[in-house]
Amino acid sequence: MKPMVIGSGWKMNATVHDAVNLVRQLKEKLSGFSTFPVFVLPPFTALDAVSRELKGSNIRYGAQNMSWETGGAFTGEISAPMLVELGCRYVELNHQERRALFNETDRSANMKLHTAFRFGLQPVLCIGEEERGDEAGSALFLKQQLVELLRGIGEEDAVNILFAYEPRWAIGQAEAADAGYVERMHRVIRGIIGELYGSDAASRALVLYGGSVNLQNYQSIAVQPDVNGLFIGRCGLDADVYSEIILAVADLICGDSDDAQQKERMG
Ligand code: PGA
Repeated sequence: MKPMVIGSGWKMNATVHDAVNLVRQLKEKLSGFSTFPVFVLPPFTALDAVSRELKGSNIRYGAQNMSWETGGAFTGEISAPMLVELGCRYVELNHQERRALFNETDRSANMKLHTAFRFGLQPVLCIGEEERGDEAGSALFLKQQLVELLRGIGEEDAVNILFAYEPRWAIGQAEAADAGYVERMHRVIRGIIGELYGSDAASRALVLYGGSVNLQNYQSIAVQPDVNGLFIGRCGLDADVYSEIILAVADLICGDSDDAQQKERMG
């Protein structure tokens, strides 16, 4: 079975009440599921309640952003130690909305990446071109972006990143990027990681796709050989839809989602 991870960033959706309801339903629908890691990234305000609700569950959680600073006079910011205190495993960095609406840059994301590793947080690092153009242009954009984002990051940390390929033009749309295009861009990303860290790191790197994943398109994307997961926005806010996608992907990539059989197969 190829490595797979499915996560959902909830953006600025879900009050504490909504978030608890959502994870309660997910816990029930995904009870016993351990075929591959599954996670949710609620808003900061719901992290504490979600952490309590998910105690003892296989569903993991994390935050959607954080500061590169670790404390002090930074009004309105949230630090890595604050996330660690709440049991967060992941932190999402460099989402297109942070870049487009809040002026974040490769440089700030790089600083946050260094901070995340210092505090043992696993980054969900969003990457992707901003305009829909030719593939060579997108490949060049990805190369430049990854070089900047990964500045000073060693191989062992780099292979712990969940790379979320999310072309800006495919986020929040009716349609995801075409599955063939996604596969080609994931190969490009793997190739860049190979140039930066060598072929072993390239084969170990986990590259997820995000951008308008839904019930109509998840299958064709998830089965692509270089796709190691899905990073889902809107469809992660509906427990029925999100769990349906997760369970169906488990079936697709390993023949069934039954835990015991899966463990046996994996030795
Ligand atoms: P979407 O969001 O699935 O609603 O397009 C994806 C994302 O921004 O991560």
